[in-house]
Amino acid sequence: MITEPTRNLALELVRVTEAAALSAGRYMGRGNKNAADHAAVEAMRLILNTISMNAVIVIGEGEKDQAPMLFNGEHVGNGKGAEMDIAVDPIDGTRPLANGTWSALSIVALAPRGTMFDPGPFVYMDKIAVGPQAKGKVDILAPVKHNLTAIAKAGGKSVEDVTVAILDRPRHEQLVAEVRRAGARIRLIPDGDVAGALMTSWPDSGIDALLGVGGTPEGVLSACALRAMGGEIQGKLYARNDDELRRGREMGYDFKKVLTMNDLVSTEDVFFAATGVTDGEFLDGVKYFGSGARTDSLVVRGQTGTVRQIIATHRWDKLNKFSAIKY
Ligand code: FBP
Repeated sequence: MITEPTRNLALELVRVTEAAALSAGRYMGRGNKNAADHAAVEAMRLILNTISMNAVIVIGEGEKDQAPMLFNGEHVGNGKGAEMDIAVDPIDGTRPLANGTWSALSIVALAPRGTMFDPGPFVYMDKIAVGPQAKGKVDILAPVKHNLTAIAKAGGKSVEDVTVAILDRPRHEQLVAEVRRAGARIRLIPDGDVAGALMTSWPDSGIDALLGVGGTPEGVLSACALRAMGGEIQGKLYARNDDELRRGREMGYDFKKVLTMNDLVSTEDVFFAATGVTDGEFLDGVKYFGSGARTDSLVVRGQTGTVRQIIATHRWDKLNKFSAIKY
């Protein structure tokens, strides 16, 4: 069936992540995670409320960091357009931003109401993410070696050529040992596993897979982007202790269940935008040049599979005349 082109909300979302990045980028290296996050949240909320939509925040701020809120359940948008679910991570990588290091991103994803996984208060998820070639060939429940062999075969290479991104955390000691035993290469990342997941589907990134436990919100956001970028992510909620397991059971969460991409976001009709705050491997951070700044963003639409990279120049003399955000 042929239909007229419809609105690409991702092109509006990128204004949200650009504003958040421009505001928060000022805090690079200043050692204050909360101030950086707060600046991103404020800017994000302002622009989100100009978009014609009636969105409810499913993935918001606060559970892990008790950060300033764009809280779960909050309505955003001007209330007039389509009913949507929204996931926000004003800064994925508050620590790298505060320290002035690798790959902090500002991220937003949007999908029709009721389509995004709601993780409740459970902050961690075990994940496997792969690019388009290995899509459908891995299983989070299978041994690491089995998945690495499948990824190698899908890419027409040997396991020794496979590179896996893993968050550099003590909890991954055993995982790292297993990947080493299998013979694959490892890229330990200090933070930012959305960037790690997206790199699996970014041409020439050199990353074939992301493995290990990271944030649950980041898992849902990665699923939204990978839906359009052709990759795959599977997750499994990860309890930090028995108390969390018990609470999960009481609330009807199953920590053994494999969350497929469809469980994480059950539609192709998804929009995703991310803007670099500090320099990363596929997006540059904000560059301030006195009279303005330059941003680098990724804009993705699930239905069409279009992936755009948008480099924007922002001029303070114009913007600060009318903008509620002072840049
Ligand atoms: P924040 O910036 O929200 O703290 O997230 C950074 C991050 O590295 C995520 O990308 C990742 O999913 C999560 O933290 C891992 O959590 P932890 O640092 O507690 O291991």
